[in-house]
Amino acid sequence: MAEKSRIGVTGLAVMGANLARNIASRGVPVAVHNRTTAKTEQFMAEHGGEGEFTASESVEDFVNSLERPRRIIVMVKAGRPVDAVIEELTPLLDEGDIIIDAGNSHFPDTVRRTEECAANGIRFMGVGVSGGEEGALLGPSIMPGGDPEAYAEVEEIFTAISAKVDDTPCCVHVGPGGAGHYVKMVHNGIEYADIQLIAEAYDLLTHVVGLDAPAIGKIFEEWNSGDLESFLIEITGKVLAKTDEKTGKPLVDVIVDQAEQKGTGRWTSQDALDLGVPLTGITEAVFARTLSALRDERRAASTTLAGPSPAQKADEQLVDDIRQALYASKVVAYAQGFAQMRAASIENDWDLKLGDMATIWRGGCIIRAQFLNRIRDAYAEHPDLDNLLMVPYFTEAVADAQDAWRRVVTVATEQGVAIPAFSSSLSYYDGYRRERGPANLIQGLRDYFGAHTYRRTDAEGSFHTRWAQDGAEVRTD
Ligand code: 6PG
Repeated sequence: MAEKSRIGVTGLAVMGANLARNIASRGVPVAVHNRTTAKTEQFMAEHGGEGEFTASESVEDFVNSLERPRRIIVMVKAGRPVDAVIEELTPLLDEGDIIIDAGNSHFPDTVRRTEECAANGIRFMGVGVSGGEEGALLGPSIMPGGDPEAYAEVEEIFTAISAKVDDTPCCVHVGPGGAGHYVKMVHNGIEYADIQLIAEAYDLLTHVVGLDAPAIGKIFEEWNSGDLESFLIEITGKVLAKTDEKTGKPLVDVIVDQAEQKGTGRWTSQDALDLGVPLTGITEAVFARTLSALRDERRAASTTLAGPSPAQKADEQLVDDIRQALYASKVVAYAQGFAQMRAASIENDWDLKLGDMATIWRGGCIIRAQFLNRIRDAYAEHPDLDNLLMVPYFTEAVADAQDAWRRVVTVATEQGVAIPAFSSSLSYYDGYRRERGPANLIQGLRDYFGAHTYRRTDAEGSFHTRWAQDGAEVRTD
């Protein structure tokens, strides 16, 4: 009988296939399986020679080809397909076997599946994997969540296949239950904000500065050697430089301007609303995608709704202002995303080490960036930091950029270019740095129409004013 495999992968679409190949390339025997056998056959025909693979047609044979405790990576579409695979595997597994969901599952599903599996003696792990197809093959960033003892059974393989930065693996046990998928969700939310900010910069460079796509591509290429250095800035330069073979135009100019989404950004915003965390950058990015989707309505509105008269300001200073506005807004988006993870960690008792999250996002994942080193340093010095903006490096970075940031928001507003992420980030910054904001009036209004009460700055307790009656104030607690 053939030697048993150390780990199995079921679901051989490109992400699952590439993860299996990555694992096998480290000399680890891998069992592979797919619901439709043709896919398994195709995988074996194309990659079977790359390592020690055992392919099975049936789930039973797949399970039997694994050493114990069985470690099974499930790489199928998030949602019902994950439950279907678990249901199929469960009767075939033994106490202590481990099911690892490495897809983009919604974390409440992971919490539920962890409990359901535990009731059957199975250890379930929800593991965030980022890096796209190439990352899965060559070294992703891995965010494992679940039982630490189960993690110990896969740690060696996971750290071996992950990306490395300065010899440090981009893989660390994130926390119990749904923590891994939660952190991956916030990673994706930040990815949305990063991408939206890049798109706004592109829009301004196109419509206010008056540059074409290849020229803007060169600007992004330059920006990639400064504070903004990151995978997304790098690939923006490449995407903008690409010429469409069919028309000879820049390819971006012939791509339909409707952004799609699979849900992780929206979940991040929904969770921020539940937690009561101001997450304006990511949320505006989600809304910008939904606005972009209203293509027919926008087309009608473009000839109906008035805007300012076009006036281009081709000016060197503005290009650098946009760079600075992009950086400052990016700092805000990360400050918000990390504040959200901190709130979720407290709420769920996850004990997330936020510095570790910055560390494992430095390589392999879509938001990998130089800048994450600064975030890592910030949490190394202040593990319980409320907000990244309060760390001297970021305080100064945003202070240095703020004049440029305000100029960009002003010019964009004057010229009628939508910049929801730039402007909401600036408003968040201005709101956060205010000792006293205008919510006193909100409280006064709420008390007027609904007797919702308010607190006073000069006394303890709750108060209500009989605004429309005798105008007297009464204490209500
Ligand atoms: C990653 C990516 C990956 C995927 C997103 C795209 O980290 O490797 O984030 O998870 O590309 O799901 O999300 P949208 O389709 O919602 O933009």
